[in-house]
Amino acid sequence: MADVLVVGSGGREHALGWKLSQSNKVGKVYHAPGNGGTSNNVSIAVDDIDGLVKFASGNNCLTVVGPETPLSIGIVDEFTKKGLRIFGPTKKAAQLESSKVWAKNFMKKHDILTAQFEIFDDAKKAKEYAKSVDYNLVVKADGLAAGKGVIVCNDYTEAVSAIDKILEKSFGTAGSKIILEERIDGTEASYIALSDGMVAIPMATSQDHKRIFNNDKGPNTGGMGAYSPTPVINDSMAEQIQKNVIDKTVESMKNDGIVFKGFLYAGIMLKDDTPYVLEYNARMGDPECQPIMMRMESDLYDYINASIDGTLSQLPPISWKKQSAVCVVLASKGYPDSYPKNEEILGLGMQDKNSVVFHAGTILDNNKVLTSGGRVLGVTALGDTLQTAISNAYLRVKEISWPAKYYRTDIGKKGLMS
Ligand code: AMP
Ligand code: GLY
Repeated sequence: MADVLVVGSGGREHALGWKLSQSNKVGKVYHAPGNGGTSNNVSIAVDDIDGLVKFASGNNCLTVVGPETPLSIGIVDEFTKKGLRIFGPTKKAAQLESSKVWAKNFMKKHDILTAQFEIFDDAKKAKEYAKSVDYNLVVKADGLAAGKGVIVCNDYTEAVSAIDKILEKSFGTAGSKIILEERIDGTEASYIALSDGMVAIPMATSQDHKRIFNNDKGPNTGGMGAYSPTPVINDSMAEQIQKNVIDKTVESMKNDGIVFKGFLYAGIMLKDDTPYVLEYNARMGDPECQPIMMRMESDLYDYINASIDGTLSQLPPISWKKQSAVCVVLASKGYPDSYPKNEEILGLGMQDKNSVVFHAGTILDNNKVLTSGGRVLGVTALGDTLQTAISNAYLRVKEISWPAKYYRTDIGKKGLMS
């Protein structure tokens, strides 16, 4: 039996640890730093690579990395150098997410369909360009900006203020280069695959709900809820994305001398039945991971090892529960801006075979669970139909309370309408 260290503290990491701990090949699952819902927490920050190396080697762990920050600073490279087993992409491969400029140039070079774009480091030139185009723009910072580096604009005036905001003010080095790209209006979905650098196999399809309010209104967030599978990506669309985006990305990376291992996430915009890549993530989605893990029947541990060893082609396709799964994110009112913390959460005790409450921004304090982040819990439920999964999730949501509890009431609805 192998012990596992899951790096990260969000709902995604709770779900990965929950799934891995069900494997009969896995012993103890540690979380660094974890949250109020995860067990065997070790207090090491996700960017303390020396600390994580020391823990993993001292405890003989296989390490699974959840968030982008440690990947972008080279945790996989450091672990590999020290002979430690770790799951995820190297620093070079993680550039697909850590530099949007790098990713856009990569897509252009390899003919992977994405919104047309130009790159600027000068506000004046960017504004001239904004004036010259006859379509709406999206302005993006180059580097990781915790979801705040993208501004979707409705007209030229908004584009001008977005250019100023991203280039001159808010993002420091992350904003030193910006991308101006064509806004594509369509249906957004997440396509996540698992790669060993040679092949990539699909995870179940899913759709996130990125805006804070119902009906996709208000500012972007990390994700307010997700469900799986999504009818938005039907079998033929999945095939198209797998071939023209995922396989092409892994193959082109390999041809460029970069082996991509780990979860490869393509943020897709579907317009006129054509999938455009809006962004790559070099990791699992959060909250997409929660419903996907609920539906996964195969042993995640086997697939993670095959990704590390380059033997994915020897494994059967992942098997999924036929049921739907829905994750409703419970946040603290005010998120994605400022919100209260340290409020006690009540009603977590309910036992229910259809649902799991994955923790994100929580801490344990003297046996009380307190809020500590914007996205607090991911209430995730299975159901024989999407409608049943939605009902099961919201039943559980109603049991849980704290003063600033906030959630969208329309998670999954998009899947019922399409
Ligand atoms: P990104 O981090 O690049 O995925 O951008 C965050 C969000 O901005 C996406 O999930 C989309 O909702 C939106 N977005 C990004 N690029 C575009 C685009 N070219 N057209 C329309 N919306 C976009
Ligand atoms: N749910 C979107 C993301 O993980 O980036």
